[in-house]
Amino acid sequence: PRRYTITLLPGDGIGPEVISVAKDVLLLAGSLEGIKYDFREMLLGGAALDATGVPLPEETLSVAKQSDAVLLGAIGGYKWDINEKHLKPETGLLQIRQGLRVFANLRPATVFPQLVDASTLKREIAEGVDLMVVRELTGGIYFGKPRGFGTNENGEEIGYNTEIYAAHEIDRIAHVAFKIAQKRSGKLCSVDKANVLEASMFWRKRVLAIAQEYPDVELSHMYVDNASMQLIRNPKQFDTIVTNNIFGDILSDEASMITGSIGMLPSASLGDSGPGLFEPIHGSAPDIAGQDKANPFATVLSAAMLLRYGLGEDKAAGRIENAVLDTLNRGFRTADIYSAGTKLVGCKQLGEEILKSVESNVPAA
Ligand code: NAD
Ligand code: IPM
Ligand code: MN
Repeated sequence: PRRYTITLLPGDGIGPEVISVAKDVLLLAGSLEGIKYDFREMLLGGAALDATGVPLPEETLSVAKQSDAVLLGAIGGYKWDINEKHLKPETGLLQIRQGLRVFANLRPATVFPQLVDASTLKREIAEGVDLMVVRELTGGIYFGKPRGFGTNENGEEIGYNTEIYAAHEIDRIAHVAFKIAQKRSGKLCSVDKANVLEASMFWRKRVLAIAQEYPDVELSHMYVDNASMQLIRNPKQFDTIVTNNIFGDILSDEASMITGSIGMLPSASLGDSGPGLFEPIHGSAPDIAGQDKANPFATVLSAAMLLRYGLGEDKAAGRIENAVLDTLNRGFRTADIYSAGTKLVGCKQLGEEILKSVESNVPAA
């Protein structure tokens, strides 16, 4: 049997609840395809802070680096919100993304036909939406220097960050996005703020230069304010979107609502080499943590991305994707995607229903 080492990072809040479901689903889908796993569960975020005093212990990063793929739940919570920057759970997440050099964050947003009624948009707007946000993940304002707190020339306190991109950072994410667009509908929209920001003017210049190598891709550019409006007005005009770290963060949360819930969106973060990092796009949802209300689909679909993009195990990935659709077809919903006539269940029970669907291996209807 093929054997893989998977690092699990449950994290905080609903993280452990959704990771528990995704782990069971990985195990079952894997066993049906002759795959064996060695799981290594490690600390990240608030859980790591409480246990070790830092949000990303060295051991977590070294184990993650040595594994074949990393599956992450979510980090963060009220308890640590007042911590200094270097002692925030979020800092641990940024450090592991940087440590694994996973610069390309793929965030697909697909409206499943079964969930059109859960979308906040009208049926005819939401139906059939299938887009991919390619978010730059290890650069931009999240990491740019100078950053910090200080005082200005008037002696007033200030906080500041720097949006900065080097040519190679834009080039490599553009290559990823063009290649994805080639495999999809051949349309790529680069989202920036090139009417105002130098970092965006440079972004657009580099994307245009890389475009020379992809004459078969239809490239367009859009300012981020318009893009956020167009996403709600007519999301079907988009196929692949490429954008910087912070715009990608915001636009992917917005795109998630078209699909019904942020609890539906998975992601894959990939670099040039080494293990990929797979995580739902949502956070630790402290408002519902510990109540068995979390929607595990985003993490289960992230596990499918782990198999497909991280391990090249397309068959096992397909089993999981089909099981998600089958579970939806059988009417099971967590509260965030509930609509009249469907069956409301908690995180655990939904997990059990997904397992039944994996077991029966019903092809997607
Ligand atoms: P959030 O994504 O955690 O929650 C936003 C809203 O969506 C909440 O009402 C929550 O209940 C709901 N929600 C999120 N995931 C859900 C799911 N799977 N099922 C059902 N409902 C779900 O964002 P937030 O409230 O802004 O942030 C909470 C904490 O999470 C903060 O500490 C933040 O820094 C952190 N965060 C972490 C990540 C990550 O780990 N990748 C991502 C975003 C936010
Ligand atoms: C996400 C989150 C993170 C981000 C935070 C928690 C650092 O919002 O994964 O989308 O901004 O990247
Ligand atoms: Mn986010």
